[in-house]
Amino acid sequence: MTDLDVTEAAVPDGAVRCPVDHTAPAEGTVIPSSAVPGPTLGQREQLVRYVTQRTQFLNECKAAYGRRFKLGVLPGVDFFVITDPDDLRAIFTAPRTSLHCGNSNGALEKYFGNTGIAFLDEGDHLARRKALTRSFKGAAFARITESVERITVDAVAGWPRDEAVDMHPLVHRWAMNVIREVVFGKVVPTCWPRLLDALLDLVELNRYPTAMLMIDRWSPAKKRLMKRRPGTGLKDFWRNRPRVDALIAEAVAERAEIGELGDDMLSVLFGITHEDGSPLSVKELRDEIMTMFVAGTVTTVSAVCWSIEHFSRDPERLGRLRDEIAAGSTDEYLTAVVHEVLRINPPLPNNLARQVVEPIVIGGVRYEPGQLLVPSAELLNNDPERYPEPEKFLPERFIGVQPGQYTWIPFGGGHTRCMGDRIAIHEIKTMLRELVTSVDFERADPDPARPVPRGPVVVPQHGPRITLRPRQR
Ligand code: HEM
Repeated sequence: MTDLDVTEAAVPDGAVRCPVDHTAPAEGTVIPSSAVPGPTLGQREQLVRYVTQRTQFLNECKAAYGRRFKLGVLPGVDFFVITDPDDLRAIFTAPRTSLHCGNSNGALEKYFGNTGIAFLDEGDHLARRKALTRSFKGAAFARITESVERITVDAVAGWPRDEAVDMHPLVHRWAMNVIREVVFGKVVPTCWPRLLDALLDLVELNRYPTAMLMIDRWSPAKKRLMKRRPGTGLKDFWRNRPRVDALIAEAVAERAEIGELGDDMLSVLFGITHEDGSPLSVKELRDEIMTMFVAGTVTTVSAVCWSIEHFSRDPERLGRLRDEIAAGSTDEYLTAVVHEVLRINPPLPNNLARQVVEPIVIGGVRYEPGQLLVPSAELLNNDPERYPEPEKFLPERFIGVQPGQYTWIPFGGGHTRCMGDRIAIHEIKTMLRELVTSVDFERADPDPARPVPRGPVVVPQHGPRITLRPRQR
């Protein structure tokens, strides 16, 4: 046995794992974070396993070390994976001064810039979130949901029939159009068709592992070198980014000229001022807009693609969903489907890392400044004690059951909980309703699609590839 085989070491073949977490600190005691167990592999080996076999590696660690364990995947940084619901409650409700998220989005700086909500903490984050809420709730939410219906019907009607296609790009184009409504509302920029194409070209970088590297923090020399390397996607990315930025600037200038301000995000952003009364700069507007076009699409697209993957393999459940939609009296099963898709395939398998900025005790462990706490959606959502047969797609488990705030965390939680959660759920439901009522799915590949990383999210390999046939009733 190598020292990689942590599961075997902890749970020999045929042994029944004890349900008591013996690695947890005894009631009422506080242990230092250095006492939290974790694999003894070297940093590089841990990183390789994390990057190439993340789910398996984390499951092995959980089996061997319990509901919280320490990884050494980053040089010099302690990285604690947290899967205990009580620990999660403590993390999600911790004071803003104790845990920060702003530094955890470094890999997304290439898209988000570094001035938007995802990079803010404490009072700045609170103020930005409060301001932006107006474009997610109330009248804005009603406007967005109404548009989602129209955008979805148009999208599905335009998708090819009777030929096998990769669903991912089709779904991504649809999701971008939805976020256009969130960001620009009823005043669609004249340059939108060009901006849409440029945005989709830009996020193509997510097909490459470089999408998760902090390329904006590289030296100019390293950037020049890497740009020339084939197979990194960087040359195209660096060509496309100024194109996107210029089109966003054009859209913003056009809107400033037209006015017609309302509750769309750009209107709200125009109303935000700094302490000295100055408005947000063009770069700050761009960063927030890009945050929405990336955070608000790659995630939803992953969930829709996984839904298609499951339904194209499960005629019985597809039939049940169609029956409910045809009866038209409830959306109980559809809601359960969305909860189950987000449980079994959380688009972001692990939430944003929380960086400890002042010592904090969570679950009897004292964490120190600089350490990272990572709530693991994939481990929590797939806990067999909470979700029997966790590897099976069983929407029935959520019928009449509201997912728990600390036991189902595809949208994260606390101060940074996803702002678009209600919009996303509405989008996924609308797309599923439209798809299953208008088309039949035929899989190009009978085998289940493998989960593969695509930038920050996990998607079914090859889309999945599906032939959409006009529905036979
Ligand atoms: C199924 C779809 C989606 C999933 C699974 C998802 C998931 C997440 C997660 C896990 C976070 C980090 C939360 C944390 O760690 O506490 C997040 C943050 C965020 N999401 Fe989503 N998201 C989805 C859709 C959307 C949509 C449609 C929008 C915009 C319309 C959006 C906007 C945001 C924003 C702005 C943040 C940052 C919040 C903050 O820093 O305060 N998301 N999302």
